[in-house]
Amino acid sequence: MYNFEFRNPVKILFGKESISKLSGEIPANANILMIYGGGSIKRTGVYDQVMAALKGCTVAEFSGIEANPHYETCMEAVDVVKKKNIDFLLAVGGGSVLDATKFIAAAALYENGDPWDILAAGKPVEKALPLGAVLTLPATGSEMNGNSVITRAERQEKKAFGSPLVMPQFSVLDPECVFTLPDRQVANGVVDAFVHVMEQYLTFKVNSPLQDRLAESILTTLIEEGPKVLADRKNYDAAANFMWCATMALNGMIAVGVPQDWSTHVIGHELTAFHGIDHGRTLAIVLPGVMHVKRDNKKDKILQYGERIWGITAGNEDERIDAIIARTVEFFESLGVPCRLPDYNVPESTITKIVDRFKQSEAKIGEKQDMDYLEIEKILRDRL
Ligand code: NZQ
Ligand code: ZN
Repeated sequence: MYNFEFRNPVKILFGKESISKLSGEIPANANILMIYGGGSIKRTGVYDQVMAALKGCTVAEFSGIEANPHYETCMEAVDVVKKKNIDFLLAVGGGSVLDATKFIAAAALYENGDPWDILAAGKPVEKALPLGAVLTLPATGSEMNGNSVITRAERQEKKAFGSPLVMPQFSVLDPECVFTLPDRQVANGVVDAFVHVMEQYLTFKVNSPLQDRLAESILTTLIEEGPKVLADRKNYDAAANFMWCATMALNGMIAVGVPQDWSTHVIGHELTAFHGIDHGRTLAIVLPGVMHVKRDNKKDKILQYGERIWGITAGNEDERIDAIIARTVEFFESLGVPCRLPDYNVPESTITKIVDRFKQSEAKIGEKQDMDYLEIEKILRDRL
């Protein structure tokens, strides 16, 4: 196991009616900006619950954060923060709203030029406004981490940054929020959480049996609970288990002391940037290609995953790896998530555009930092 340092200060308020506890978490005299998306929270009743919990507080609103949040929209919110002297941000929504709020928190106090540099040039975040979250969609883990992914629409670029300064002070997780999710968002969430685990697990062995088994337990629970949520949206227990899986998949716990990959995400973000494909779906497209092309790097862990998660033990190593990839695809498809580029009308020319970007940046990705543009091309061509 590698050396590591680990600290996760996010307070989680989990369970039925936990939104009512909100005001106790925000400083009494705070000047709050509540940030939300396209209006689902008004239809689902979450908006009313939040407003009831914040009765007596000073609350301004900023709505219209889009899925795959835009830099341009975030900068409008930064103007509001400055004009209204906001000193606390409350995100109410899915990963997009949470990520946008994190970027707004950092951009509002950024003094070294264009805040886009935090994303595009990796400029450090030196301060950020405090923020809290009410999560309405289990998927990204954004509620308990310091990551944020923002899109610059005019340039078709999707970039990530991370800083402990934008970790929420608290996150409220009420599983009843799952009851109103459309099938598509449930499926996206299960796949996203599943692939978060895979990015931190499907690498190479470093003698970390506890991290492996934690990762495997999240995968198994998602495989059991995801279909239950899809079949019956009002199954509270399944919703609760799904929600906690998604948080545990990306709160840092299973990443400690082990190598991490993240190539599926980095390539997937390009598919969203060019075609607006939902984040979870891009991962279902790319992961099988990564497993196929990086089967040598990942051999021991793919075989362990196949045996422990799917019970696949028959055949030689190559045959087993093929069967394991096929079983993973079958699981994603069973949730209603197609796994090939043509399913999303992505033309071959997009592969060229993505590969050119990686060629120009000379980026190398993957747990061994050995995946270059040529391999990225192989991965994407595998998905045609
Ligand atoms: O905008 P509203 O009206 O709120 O509707 C949303 C949106 O249309 C709707 N929704 C949310 N909660 C709902 C609901 N509809 C009914 N009932 C509810 N309870 O769902 C739609 C999708 O929401 P979005 O927030 O975009 O989805 P998700 O949570 O999957 O977030 C995706 C974003 O997170 C980023 C992705 O790249 C993408 O931009 N990620 C963030 C990560 C992180 N911060 O750690 C890691 C992930 O790998 C990911 O990259
Ligand atoms: Zn993800």
